[in-house]
Amino acid sequence: MPTNELPLSGQVALITGGASGIGEAAAGRIAAVGATVAVLDRDHEGAKRVVADVEQAGGRASAHVTDLHEIDGIPDVVAEVLSAHGRIDLLVNAAGISGETGEILEQSEENWDRVQRINLKAPFRLIQEVGRHMVERGGGGRIVNVTSSSAHRARMSVAPYGAAKAGLAQLTRTAAADLGRHDINVNAVAPGVTITPMTKGIGDAAAFQAMVEEGPLANLLQRASLPGDVADAILYLCLPGSRQITGQTIHLSAGAVTV
Ligand SMILES: NC(=O)c1ccc[n+]([C@@H]2O[C@H](COP(=O)([O-])OP(=O)(O)OC[C@H]3O[C@@H](n4cnc5c(N)ncnc54)[C@H](O)[C@@H]3O)[C@@H](O)[C@H]2O)c1
Repeated sequence: MPTNELPLSGQVALITGGASGIGEAAAGRIAAVGATVAVLDRDHEGAKRVVADVEQAGGRASAHVTDLHEIDGIPDVVAEVLSAHGRIDLLVNAAGISGETGEILEQSEENWDRVQRINLKAPFRLIQEVGRHMVERGGGGRIVNVTSSSAHRARMSVAPYGAAKAGLAQLTRTAAADLGRHDINVNAVAPGVTITPMTKGIGDAAAFQAMVEEGPLANLLQRASLPGDVADAILYLCLPGSRQITGQTIHLSAGAVTV
């Protein structure tokens, strides 16, 4: 694939959680339009597999392994990406965990802390580290955070996750406010039920179908999302055509959330 005429050619995208699911799909799409993709994940084998897939398709990619629970390691891994590629133009914060589910009275403080750390504090520190680089380099940048429909509606048994994702939704707005004058757009995508390794516990296709037709996770289109549905919106928020969009959330919940 000749990458010199593509919309993101010459740009570098750092994608957390890029070894699986939504992050993996985003890595494929962003690489396909010319960007070099730095796949950051704690799953080394998965990251290497995604890099191989991108290269197989004619794109450029590298794997970077870190556990985002270790917040102090974030400056080092961002420096590693900068050392490998010289710049970062796009940051996609897709890494996340659902944590332990259970009603609020049963939730442990340990689970709360872990879920906030990976889903909210790590994106905050990544925005800081990558944002500093973007400001120093000049020329702007794009940041896309993956939140959740759980940030925007009352769901049972996900108190830590819903709170972390709601925090990330507001972090999106406040970061957009602080970074806009540097030509850095900060937006979010909020998936509803999406078929990925994170949701494998739901069961087979029939179980997903039942879930989106009836009950608290039902949606207007009566279908679950695929990783590519979410990745298409992430890609859009990285492309020149979305340059006037910042501080926004694109909802990908098939109408479950209609704010
Ligand atoms: N699947 C859904 O239904 C759904 C719905 C709404 C939001 N989301 C969000 O979408 C994002 C992607 O989820 P997914 O469904 O693709 O899940 P996934 O499990 O397929 O992918 C998540 C990736 O994040 C990585 N990761 C997790 N914790 C990490 C850590 N501490 N350090 C480094 N990497 C870590 C995992 O290794 C994995 O590669 C998450 O933020 C999730 O909360 C998913």
